[in-house]
Amino acid sequence: MKERIELLRTRLHQYNYEYHVLDKPTISDLDYDKLLRELIDLEAAYPEFADPNSPTQKVGGQVLDAFDKVEHKRPMLSLGNVFNYDELKSFCDKIEQEVGQVEYVAECKIDGLAMSVSYLQGQFVQAVTRGDGVVGEDVSLNVKTVRSLPMKIDYQGDLEIRGEIYMPKKSFEKLNAEREKKGEELFANCRNAAAGSIRQLDSKVAASRGLDGFWYHLPDGEIYGMDNHYDSLMWMKSLGFKVNEKYSRKFLNVDEIWAFIEELTAIRYDLPYDIDGVVIKVNSYATQRQLGFTSRTPKWAVAYKFPAEEKETILEDIFLTVGRTGKITPNAQLTPLFLAGTKVGFAQLHNEDMIKEKDIRIGDVVVVRKAGDIIPEVVRSAPDKRNGTQVPYVFPKECPVCHHQIYRDEKEAHYFCINPDCPARVVESIAHFASRDCMNIDGLGVKKVEAFHQMGWLNAIEDIYRISQFETEICTTSGFGEKSYRNLLNSIEASKQNSLEKLLNGLGIRQVGDKAAKILANRFVTMDALMNASMDELQEIRDIGPITAQGILDFFHEEGNRQMIERLKEAGVNMEVLRAKVEESFFTGKKVVLTGSLAIYTRKEAEQLLEKLGATVSSSVSSKTDLVIYGENAGSKLDKARKLNVAVMTEEEFEAKLNENQ
Ligand code: IVH
Repeated sequence: MKERIELLRTRLHQYNYEYHVLDKPTISDLDYDKLLRELIDLEAAYPEFADPNSPTQKVGGQVLDAFDKVEHKRPMLSLGNVFNYDELKSFCDKIEQEVGQVEYVAECKIDGLAMSVSYLQGQFVQAVTRGDGVVGEDVSLNVKTVRSLPMKIDYQGDLEIRGEIYMPKKSFEKLNAEREKKGEELFANCRNAAAGSIRQLDSKVAASRGLDGFWYHLPDGEIYGMDNHYDSLMWMKSLGFKVNEKYSRKFLNVDEIWAFIEELTAIRYDLPYDIDGVVIKVNSYATQRQLGFTSRTPKWAVAYKFPAEEKETILEDIFLTVGRTGKITPNAQLTPLFLAGTKVGFAQLHNEDMIKEKDIRIGDVVVVRKAGDIIPEVVRSAPDKRNGTQVPYVFPKECPVCHHQIYRDEKEAHYFCINPDCPARVVESIAHFASRDCMNIDGLGVKKVEAFHQMGWLNAIEDIYRISQFETEICTTSGFGEKSYRNLLNSIEASKQNSLEKLLNGLGIRQVGDKAAKILANRFVTMDALMNASMDELQEIRDIGPITAQGILDFFHEEGNRQMIERLKEAGVNMEVLRAKVEESFFTGKKVVLTGSLAIYTRKEAEQLLEKLGATVSSSVSSKTDLVIYGENAGSKLDKARKLNVAVMTEEEFEAKLNENQ
């Protein structure tokens, strides 16, 4: 039987390769499924012949509690960016000044998530995410489900390859269509969808997402006898890895590279995967070594980032939406168009003044683009294309949802609906409370909350914790079966154990977002202490200004809010800070300010590292500051620190100190 199992494995590996890498299947789906079924059955009947790299693993199965952290053998670096021809030219000029004429390789910058995969004795061993570049997470079970990735290769030594796991556009569209049907939150783009899928603890879910991967980097390629990047791509290809051969090309100067960039710019939306730019690398390893690295990025490679695509369409109408604070936002209804790869029917208009300033009229031809390639916005109108039928927009006097009068404070750019019972406000505030950065209750997105609110099951935040009284009704409602109901209940139950800052962020206190919530939670530790805080106590806290302080006082002054908190308490919602264990270090207890542009860490990474070590990070320098860490182009904050005799250190010194600590 062992022979049959082995034969099936070899054949299925080969079929996977032909179908998913070569795009040339030699067997019908039906016959493939038959063989796979046979193998699954045989493996179940003969567990003694189990193989963690069997093709049956591509359908997933194991469920984890968490991902293990793994330190990368070599750090996973990111690249510097250029945004136009001139910047690209100066990148090339610098190189050529230093080492003379070179050969470059330019390739698609795949918009997915970076991955390191290792093999030993011809077998897949492990897949690790980039993480912070030094330590990533072991997501092997999920990456194994990527059909095009070989589990066995014809190279016996220790091998690490790097590349990008991405979600093909087709898989993305299918996934979002399914999620829409189920009333689940949609993924904004292929990258988020790929990241969300790789972070699934249940590998069956990851397997169902249709992920793929391109492999574009062979660290220390010399070990394998390569002397340049392009040959390493071809070597990886010969081992059965999917490399983007069609769009990885050699060039001799900036103009050739630029022509390739223009070619990709023209066809990027026709590609079956998302790209967000072009990566340019010096081909020869010897030259790469000569050029070396800056603190964070190689000097021999750079990423050209595409500008946001702009297109014209017709603004058919303007409609208003109401947020959880009652803020009323105008939106443009557009004649649908394809923009940056997705169909767009709506765009942000921000506020009344913006509509007036840009002279945007209903019926206008408008130019739209996606801000950060995600949220569509109207850039400008085209008055010269008017035909006399366009009409200026008159901002309504009442809330589009509850029809109460709306107000605009002179200092505010927005109108507000101040009816606290406005259904739109209720729905948005419950959904905000449940959202990922707040109480993280899965399965309670805006659409679900809206439906539950309409049925009368959710009228306030605290109703979330009483939802089980409607069990029968919920389970018999279309689109919400027993299983999703159970999942929802589990998620609600888990949310009771969140640390105080999550709850504070979720309550919708004016001016209190995740940052202020964290500061308040750390300072007051319990909800009761915060509720009893005086104006003076609040204002004493650095980074909490008078407006925020007033917002907090107003919130807790309101009887309805105090009652809500009482009910949450009764429901068992945690009202205290759950402190992560602080690692004692040089930074513990220090008040630290970061300034200038950091090169080794991102701002967020540096902040998180410091917080983990028990430091508080604040944004302004005063005599109470203990330390200022500065990067390039540090300005007034560094000057002030020096004037006040506050200790300062460079980012490199910071890094060294951190390493001392390990
Ligand atoms: S090369 C040392 N090539 O872009 C060189 N990166 O900021 C390592 N990426 O984190 C990267 N496509 O996730 C390289 N063809 C490509 C790429 C690529 C996408 C990503 C990668 C990296 C980021 C660079």
